Amino acid sequence: MPLPDGYTLRAPKPLDHQDYLATLAVLTTVGDVTAAQFEQLLSHWAEHPSIYFPQVIVDANDTVVATGMLVVEQKLIHGCGKVGHVEDIAVAKSQQGKKLGNTLICHLSELARSHGCYKVLLDCLPANVGFYEKCGYKDLGVYMTVRYD
Ligand code: ACO
Repeated sequence: MPLPDGYTLRAPKPLDHQDYLATLAVLTTVGDVTAAQFEQLLSHWAEHPSIYFPQVIVDANDTVVATGMLVVEQKLIHGCGKVGHVEDIAVAKSQQGKKLGNTLICHLSELARSHGCYKVLLDCLPANVGFYEKCGYKDLGVYMTVRYD
């Protein structure tokens, strides 16, 4: 699906620091991540370009309004197959309902396919199942976690 006029998909850059954190805050606690830490993290992702595929959507002012990440896991099973993991999807509150989330998920899913993944996994709250179903994902029922924070 094309983005609405004025919006663009691109990789994040150091100057996105504040807007990236502010956008992600609609998803969860972001914490105090300094500009230097943010830049270091972008460098870390960039050093592993076949694993990390961070993407943002920016508005006409080049302000980040949506964030997302594809992580490509190289596995042994399925003949050393690859699985994509979609992570940290957030659309700024004021920008929700404009199909930005849908476009971002379609883009990350297609990136996974084009990089050889045989499937893509994500976990989400029950409240978001309908959103992901509209992006072509199926609800397989259970996700589990153990937390150390
Ligand atoms: N439940 C059911 N349907 C939904 C939901 C929902 N929670 N949210 C959107 N939809 C529908 C829309 O109505 C639209 O339907 P239509 O095509 O029939 O008109 C379709 O899904 C596409 O909606 P978008 O406009 O693309 O959704 P948006 O840009 O608002 O993004 C998102 C949705 C990402 C869930 C956003 O509301 C958000 O950031 N929420 C807070 C953070 C969050 O929960 N992120 C997901 C975490 S899970 C993860 O990261 C893997």
